[in-house]
Amino acid sequence: MSSTPIRVSVTGAAGQIGYALVFRIAAGEMFGPDQPVSLQMIEIPLELPMQALRGVAMELEDCAFPLLTDIVCTSDPEEGFKDADWCLLVGSKPRGPGMERSDLIRENGPIFTGQGRAINDHAGADARVVVVGNPCNTNCLIAMHSAPDLPDERFSAMTRLDQNRAQAQLANKAGVATTLVRNTLIWGNHSSTQVPDFFHAEIDGKPAYEAISDRSWLENTFLENVQKRGAAIIKARGSSSAASAANALIGHVRDLKQATPEGEWRSVCVRSDGSYGVPEGLISSFPVRADGRGGWEIQQGLELNGFLQEKLDVTVAELEEEKALVSDLLG
Ligand code: NAD
Ligand code: LMR
Repeated sequence: MSSTPIRVSVTGAAGQIGYALVFRIAAGEMFGPDQPVSLQMIEIPLELPMQALRGVAMELEDCAFPLLTDIVCTSDPEEGFKDADWCLLVGSKPRGPGMERSDLIRENGPIFTGQGRAINDHAGADARVVVVGNPCNTNCLIAMHSAPDLPDERFSAMTRLDQNRAQAQLANKAGVATTLVRNTLIWGNHSSTQVPDFFHAEIDGKPAYEAISDRSWLENTFLENVQKRGAAIIKARGSSSAASAANALIGHVRDLKQATPEGEWRSVCVRSDGSYGVPEGLISSFPVRADGRGGWEIQQGLELNGFLQEKLDVTVAELEEEKALVSDLLG
């Protein structure tokens, strides 16, 4: 067993995703069964959330997790991000029924300036930042701009939940186990304009569009089911996805740490370097391959046919609009 714990900061740790997440981190699901972890949980400086956070800490203690070396509960970002190796930025308002995620932008965006600065000044030298709070692509852009000393490639936002949703939809339609579906891919924004790509997905070694011959289902139902799944869950549950979001975050971090198997990629929102015509600097979802040493690259060479290109243009235009709406926060 490694003796040095990984320090993981989680904002919004008393919220719904936080509650579904921190126990799984402490159990070793994010960093492996031999890796001790220290949890630095951050909430807003109000009585109720801080009281709830202390309750979460009590329950963590009561699990007597062998890998959990230390628990910090704080409302002070400087303390919460101190020496952090991974900063998981979940804390922010979720949308309600009838809202788009971008409707949250002026309320949630400012959270990520202060947290970005605190990470810049207090997190560990090799810190990685993952943004989950919505609209997560643009919030990630804000955090990245607020932390100029951290290399841009340390920042990512999460479309892993959408990737998992797409994988499950394809598996259900084809009547196969999810394990037989690989390389499902999301392009663009974690929003209702995202582009779930069935052209590059495979089902049992065949292109998904050959394994599923119902082209109309792929082009219409599949796309809409994935694009609108978050809203469907809000309608059904009365609040936004939490356990599946926490599960996706575990997959996101694990897959950025491990080398991606040959011939595969994962959907990750990262800073565009201009790949696939996405304007440089936007945080957009791409096919990403990790090298297992902390680095990653955008998989090159996937063909964007007319169908994908048209949809990619729409989601990229939305990312540009969101960026314009927060231009004052990108100082
Ligand atoms: P929640 O309301 O249950 O919990 C959010 C928590 O964050 C609350 O406890 C709140 O007190 C805390 N918080 C708010 N501002 C904070 C700040 N500045 N610092 C620290 N903590 C703060 O919401 P939730 O269901 O956990 O969702 C959290 C966010 O994640 C929402 O924005 C939601 O839309 C987003 N989300 C993203 C994805 C994705 O795939 N990217 C999936 C699901 C949810
Ligand atoms: C999701 O995709 O479930 C989350 O982003 C929550 C939401 O607002 O849809």
